Amino acid sequence: MNPKTLRGPFLENEPVVFLDRKDREYLARLDRSRPIAIRGGKFSIEDIIGHEEGSVVRSSVNEPFLVFRPSLPQLIPNLPRNAQVIYPKDLGPILIWADLFPGARVVEAGVGAGALSMALLRAIASEGHLYSYELRQDFVAMAEKNVAKYFGAAPNWTLKIGDVATELEESDIDRVVLDLPEPWQVIKSAWKALRPGGILLCYLPTVLQVKSLVDALRDDQRFACIETLETLMRFWHIKGMSARPQHRMVAHTGFLTCARRLADGQKDIPRSP
Ligand SMILES: C[S@@+](CC[C@H](N)C(=O)[O-])C[C@H]1O[C@@H](n2cnc3c(N)ncnc32)[C@H](O)[C@@H]1O
Repeated sequence: MNPKTLRGPFLENEPVVFLDRKDREYLARLDRSRPIAIRGGKFSIEDIIGHEEGSVVRSSVNEPFLVFRPSLPQLIPNLPRNAQVIYPKDLGPILIWADLFPGARVVEAGVGAGALSMALLRAIASEGHLYSYELRQDFVAMAEKNVAKYFGAAPNWTLKIGDVATELEESDIDRVVLDLPEPWQVIKSAWKALRPGGILLCYLPTVLQVKSLVDALRDDQRFACIETLETLMRFWHIKGMSARPQHRMVAHTGFLTCARRLADGQKDIPRSP
């Protein structure tokens, strides 16, 4: 079963998201052995299996909820995790700035809870391949579980326990996407793994890390098109005559820095100051 391609009535063991009257989200699974409890009420799985997405269902305390298969923006913030995940706000720009495409051969590190892995798997489709490196065994286990539960079977995903800076083995890679604290340690192995023209994209929370990375990329001279950006996303409140930005917003998550690998033996051209 691949939750991403399912249509029609809900089936047993599917992930679902419940939305209450304030649009608060509750991620659950249609598992007969584990009844779903939300806000003091319970759901019988039998009452949900067989309904279409977008149905109204009522808990045992008669509270109404909408139920859907979770979209990626509904899934990621609610994903079980033991490390910070990359949020949909940044996942969208990562997919475009790293220029992901169906069929791409991609290396990713670190894996954490697997949020970025799911977005990458979806973008490369079944004809691509994702090689993911993670230092910690417990994170690998969690990511494996999350992907199996919420993304579905991923035969084109190779998940490795190891340090991507010293153990990266792949070659002819189209994209390297890094979410780890010291990506400058990975520049040499990323260059080796990438094919000419391949893209390295790094996600970093602080500008001091960005500075270290960009300096190291420039010193290396074998990457060009080095760009750093951040995304500011503001949700709006639209209700009756009240149409305004929401009072609160997430002011900062991280910076994206991307660069393109030059051909073998080539160095970046001199830049004007
Ligand atoms: C912030 S978490 C990644 C979250 C993940 N991208 C997501 O969206 O769910 C950073 C991860 O990088 C891993 N890590 C740090 N340095 C690494 C390295 N050199 N090689 C592989 N993994 C590394 C850490 O163990 C940690 O799990």
